[in-house]
Amino acid sequence: MHPWIADRTASFDSSGIRRVFDLAAKMKDPINLSIGQPDFDVPDEIKEATIEAIRAGKNAYSPTQGIAPLREAILADVRSKYPGQDRDVFISSGTSGGLMLSMLSMVNPGDEVIFTDPYFVMYPALVRLCGGVPVMVDTYPDFRLDPAKIEAAITPRTKMILINSPGNPTGVVASEEDQRAVAQIAADKKIALLSDEIYSRFFYDGTFYSPAADNPDTIVIDGFSKSHAMTGWRVGYVHGPPAIIATMLKIQQYSFVCSPQPAQWGALRAMDVSLQANFDDYRRKRDYLVNELSPHYELTSPGGAFYLFPKAPGQAGGEAFVERAISQGLLIIPGKIFSQRDSHFRISFAASDAMLQRGVEKLIQLAKS
Ligand SMILES: Cc1ncc(COP(=O)(O)O)c(C=O)c1O
Repeated sequence: MHPWIADRTASFDSSGIRRVFDLAAKMKDPINLSIGQPDFDVPDEIKEATIEAIRAGKNAYSPTQGIAPLREAILADVRSKYPGQDRDVFISSGTSGGLMLSMLSMVNPGDEVIFTDPYFVMYPALVRLCGGVPVMVDTYPDFRLDPAKIEAAITPRTKMILINSPGNPTGVVASEEDQRAVAQIAADKKIALLSDEIYSRFFYDGTFYSPAADNPDTIVIDGFSKSHAMTGWRVGYVHGPPAIIATMLKIQQYSFVCSPQPAQWGALRAMDVSLQANFDDYRRKRDYLVNELSPHYELTSPGGAFYLFPKAPGQAGGEAFVERAISQGLLIIPGKIFSQRDSHFRISFAASDAMLQRGVEKLIQLAKS
């Protein structure tokens, strides 16, 4: 290791996901079902609002907490969803910025952070970056958020429980009952509850539930990256107890500074743009994939997001299966990037119907060979 590199960076690595991207770059016309962002573009009115902001000279730093109209619009929405709660909000540099500031604000070295396995790749890395200890609760084979398992993982060092529903990489939605039970456990034990709700609009069955409804101290992270296909614009937001939000802002001031101002004006416009038709279309894509693949693969139907996390056929494991798929032009992600286990793989259905059809044909062929 280079002598200048800090020890904390050695506690995690990014080689797994990089390998997939390197392979993708070399593939010609791959069937690409690996992408973690919507396949629709940012709606024109949002682009126009952003371009207009740039032309009007709104190009400087915004206040650390974000432009006032966007903050106020989000706060009004939060207050209507959680009446009577004392919540503050700020605009972060994407949901990732909110996640990082949450960890930096709350996790001391040695603190344990509980989350379910499979998990979003950033979670263990961010916890370790803060000197914390990731505690991964295995949820195979159905990926259910089981309150009893969460409770069993709590120790005197537990600082935070992090939940993500709908989840990446499984797309599984935790039931309202299970989330409420976890919210209650966190409240009873005075443990921070962080809810990553970035896929809240990609929700296909029933209505969305946030544990903030029952635990007013829940810190909620959300953003516009996925809901409005603005992944490159870096606009997210966090709402929660005012003292926690103020601490995150203190760190934002000395790190991210602010979310890009023109993009925030675009996000303000996005608040009035419903992409329900696109979300409904993703429900159709989900149904198509589940119908076609469940006779050939062991899988749990995702209630949200745009991922499917099937078990690799045979005994060779997820990575070996993904290598076989990639050698035949199908780009998917090995489950071990998101897990302590190497048994599954991730498919993203944020892709055109033609791409999905090619993917399904290839996957059926792979399951039979
Ligand atoms: C569960 C989850 N949280 C957070 C993020 C980060 O989103 P953003 O682009 O807003 O930083 C992602 C992106 O893939 C995600 O899947």
